[in-house]
Amino acid sequence: MSEMLQQAREYEKAGSVKIPAEQRPSFHVTPLVGWCNDPNGFSVFQGEYHLFHQYYPYATEWGPMHWAHWKTKDFIRWEALPCALAPDMPYDRQGVFSGSGIEWNGKHYLIYTSVSEENGEPRQTQSVAVGDGVNYEKLPINPVITADQLPKGSSRIDFRDPKIWREGDTFYMITGSRSSDGSGQLPVFTSKDLEHWEFVTILDRCNNRYGKMWECPDFFELDGKGVVLTSPQEMQAEGLIFHNGNGSLCLIGSYDRSSHDFVREQAQPIDYGMDFYAPQTMDIPDGRRIMIAWMRNWENHMTPPGYKWSGFMTLPRELRVKNGKLYQVPVRELESYYTAAYSHNAVKAIGYTELTEVTGRVFDMTVEFSPAECKELEICVAGNERFYTSLRYDGNAGTFTTDRTYSGCPQDRLQSRTMELPERKGKVVLRIIMDQYGIEVFANDGEQVMTSLTYAPLEYDRIFFKSKGPFDVLFHKIQEDINKI
Ligand code: FRU
Repeated sequence: MSEMLQQAREYEKAGSVKIPAEQRPSFHVTPLVGWCNDPNGFSVFQGEYHLFHQYYPYATEWGPMHWAHWKTKDFIRWEALPCALAPDMPYDRQGVFSGSGIEWNGKHYLIYTSVSEENGEPRQTQSVAVGDGVNYEKLPINPVITADQLPKGSSRIDFRDPKIWREGDTFYMITGSRSSDGSGQLPVFTSKDLEHWEFVTILDRCNNRYGKMWECPDFFELDGKGVVLTSPQEMQAEGLIFHNGNGSLCLIGSYDRSSHDFVREQAQPIDYGMDFYAPQTMDIPDGRRIMIAWMRNWENHMTPPGYKWSGFMTLPRELRVKNGKLYQVPVRELESYYTAAYSHNAVKAIGYTELTEVTGRVFDMTVEFSPAECKELEICVAGNERFYTSLRYDGNAGTFTTDRTYSGCPQDRLQSRTMELPERKGKVVLRIIMDQYGIEVFANDGEQVMTSLTYAPLEYDRIFFKSKGPFDVLFHKIQEDINKI
């Protein structure tokens, strides 16, 4: 093991125990210490689910990237494993960037972007490490793919985030790259042994629509469709669908396994919230396709003062494609951690109303109403006598908004985001999952999701409602100390 990796392992071991357990969410992954961004290497190995993430243990800011490592049997209770990769080779000295993982011949393979410097410019290549689920060795032939294998005119600087999958006995890898017009393209490579790779095709191209560089692509087949997930930089807002800056994009179309042609039919955001980026999926033995993402975004994040860790992963979500749309619901395993359920039917809350036992910062709450009877509903979470974070349905505009303007955060950051929210069969159903700072709203059975953080201090734990008509609430408390380290 390199000295650099050894040092990271010692540092995180000592650093994590100094972090007060009450700062942590209960069932979401947070870095042991320091900074995290993108999930990486989300894969099954020896019957357990492994998750890695972009990691800089030494500060609550981005720095030379390492990979942190976790595993779980149920996506809710996570076990921390020692830091898996450090930027300790000449070809990855500038960072071990994002990538993916796969089990093969009893071993766990990690495929990542190795960043080095050449004539003062960054160079991105793809490299492989192989391990036993705890310790990983980088292959002597690294890097296994360089930008020389890309079509002419492609950027040598932006070529990253390999996501691997298998079709029969052949491996495929999709990456993000920049084509000669400066906008994103998604090259696919193939290999039989994970060491020797050949270029196959460009699966899809940005052509300067939906942002520029497409980061962290993923590709899979689901419910008879081909699905591309990617995280574009430099998006431009389009109505209430896409927002400026780093966004998320889901392309649904047809995929032909023999020609590797993907024909795009639909384009939509993956998530409508303020804090969602770089999702990655895996398929698991029971047939589900599970997605996890970074619950943060590059341009508008902050760390509460004094905190020695920064960044969250989302709750893993089960994906489906229905009627040309991506649906997401929380993994069903969460339900085993409910500790109590309270239901309140046909509540009418004129002025702010609180409901018996509906309180706290760790819960799974479903609120259902018919917009014909209840034109406006505001749900305020993380409240005290002065502050709250607002989740607001406006039936006149047909919109839903997450708003943290009055959350108690004294910084001038992006505070709210709104999406159109049509009713379905005369109803709107909002499933709100809160875990300390994280708020994930699954609307209408997961047809749309809005993921955001609130920076409200943790002692703000009241929940209030204000409505123009009746609504039903089903409130589940969730065990609060599942992952307190
Ligand atoms: C996306 C990203 C990736 C890159 C990683 C570096 O958030 O920019 O493209 O691999 O972060 O930490």
